[in-house]
Amino acid sequence: MCGIVGYIGNKEAYPILINGLKRLEYRGYDSAGIAIYNGETAIYKCKGKVSDLEHYTSKKSLVGFVGMGHTRWATHGEPNDINAHPHQSMYGKFILIHNGIIENYSQLKKILEEKGYRFKGETDSEVLVNFIEYIYLQGKTTAEIAVRAALSKVIGAYGLVIMCSDEPEQLIAARKGSPLVIGVGDGEYFIASDATPIVEHTKSVIFLNDDDVAIIRKDELTLKTVKNDKIIQPTIHQLDLDVDEIEKNGFDHFMLKEIFEQPRAIHDTFRGRISLEKKEIHLGGLYNVLPRLVEAKRIIIVGCGTSWHAGLVGEYLFEELARIPVEVEYGSEFRYRNPVIYEDDIVIAISQSGETADTLAAIQLAKQKGALVLGICNVVGSSIPRETHAGVYTHAGPEIGVASTKAFTSQVTVLAMMAILLGKKRNVLSNERYEQLLTALANIPDKIEKILQNSEKVKHIASIYQNATNCLYLGRGYLYPVALEGALKLKEISYIHAEGYPAAEMKHGPIALIDENMPVVFIATQDKTYEKIISNIQEVRARKGTIIAVVSEGDTKIKEMAHHTFEIPHTEEELIPLLAVIPLQLLSYYIAVMRGCNVDQPRNLAKSVTVE
Ligand code: F6R
Repeated sequence: MCGIVGYIGNKEAYPILINGLKRLEYRGYDSAGIAIYNGETAIYKCKGKVSDLEHYTSKKSLVGFVGMGHTRWATHGEPNDINAHPHQSMYGKFILIHNGIIENYSQLKKILEEKGYRFKGETDSEVLVNFIEYIYLQGKTTAEIAVRAALSKVIGAYGLVIMCSDEPEQLIAARKGSPLVIGVGDGEYFIASDATPIVEHTKSVIFLNDDDVAIIRKDELTLKTVKNDKIIQPTIHQLDLDVDEIEKNGFDHFMLKEIFEQPRAIHDTFRGRISLEKKEIHLGGLYNVLPRLVEAKRIIIVGCGTSWHAGLVGEYLFEELARIPVEVEYGSEFRYRNPVIYEDDIVIAISQSGETADTLAAIQLAKQKGALVLGICNVVGSSIPRETHAGVYTHAGPEIGVASTKAFTSQVTVLAMMAILLGKKRNVLSNERYEQLLTALANIPDKIEKILQNSEKVKHIASIYQNATNCLYLGRGYLYPVALEGALKLKEISYIHAEGYPAAEMKHGPIALIDENMPVVFIATQDKTYEKIISNIQEVRARKGTIIAVVSEGDTKIKEMAHHTFEIPHTEEELIPLLAVIPLQLLSYYIAVMRGCNVDQPRNLAKSVTVE
């Protein structure tokens, strides 16, 4: 949600900033802007993508060694040139880029208006930069003191970078609830809302904590907190990320690359954690809390979007394999509905980005109530792993396409490992079943590879349905969350209205929608509900609905009923979501491409939703 990049050092800032913005564009892409200091500070900003900004700046002379850039996902104020960042204060002393939401901005705005401040746009960020300036001019103080004083009065979330015209050889960065990473180079520093623009310059980074304020000159970084003037020693981490992981590597889109990366991503998720030889599952991040997990009376899984769907698969896995009752909650609902949480509850927060505000708020609530909170996250060093008591990283590698793909399958892989491990420790699973599941999990990457080799078949089906206006996705048991995920993928990138349902629920309402114009995607592999789902397929057929079915290899029955089928290899029923979701991801991808949609940057969306 909004991308932030900053640079200070001995190199030209512009190429670093513009390339950084391109890397960050997946976080927001409705407007972009840049500020560079060279004797005085030039600001260029416009509605549209980073390429529009690049075009706009192409004829300008943008030299200078200090600067910052921003790519926006609008919260307050429509996307236009004025609301784009950077924002400059009324008397020109401060320039700011901001990610997050200032909740008390209207009160601050009122105070400022009474003091004669006037505003050009509608953003909370413009209020903040003027509030900083107001304090600065009042107190005749330093930029750092003014920033810290202003932030101590702010309610809300921010990741921000500030330049002050009186102290131009300096950037000030601050974080609360919205991530910021500082890259440490040789006589230079990079600031960004995640590590992707930094990794090509340096692997040494500092992750800012909430309330941290960093005062950065090219050869010096001073870390303090908003409220405390005492200098803190920063901890420097080494990034485990390579540049080619954040490039398309010959694929047309990041989404397609990430779909095709799934065999490797899943392998990396279980690598070093399952051993077929020793018949072991070893989840190092859970080692200290394993006894509490084994004794768990209840698990509550929280997440949003695709991560919530992975959580639903988790519910089936934990209940079936480990016999632990599970509830799955949207982070956004959990935080506001006064949930009953016991001290012996285990809360598992699932998030690709590790920054989703609703999931973070759910974690904080669960911690306050004394539950043990675990995280399943992809982005190392992000907020959720730091807020949780323990957890497991998915190790899927950076996911840049806005639509989540490999995050889902790697999250389900972690949940499967956890459920199998607990099933064994709680004596629910026999040795034989345990070993079967372990072997099946280890074989998943090869089976996905096989599905991907057949992607042309999905492309053909996509070409037939590219002009659909609605679509239903139906599945039962483990395949119900997959139906939800298939529908989410289609709607978010192709803008076709799609809904997922448990197949048996169809007759309680959605069946009214079915006619010859309604494609229905059944996820109908040969599991214990196979015969039941065949009845549901017949119900759709009887109403002239068009049937696309994902079936098990060698299926004959459904093939006779469906208009199109796509076969996937057999595996244990508990792991079938890992295979069944792949053709659905491909179907959405190809349909969206055929409709001319921007697959990696669907309208109105952004990766990493750091606002409520
Ligand atoms: C869907 C999608 C979103 C995210 C959701 C949670 O393709 O990308 O629904 O799954 O915003 O994000 P994370 O997993 O980062 O918490």
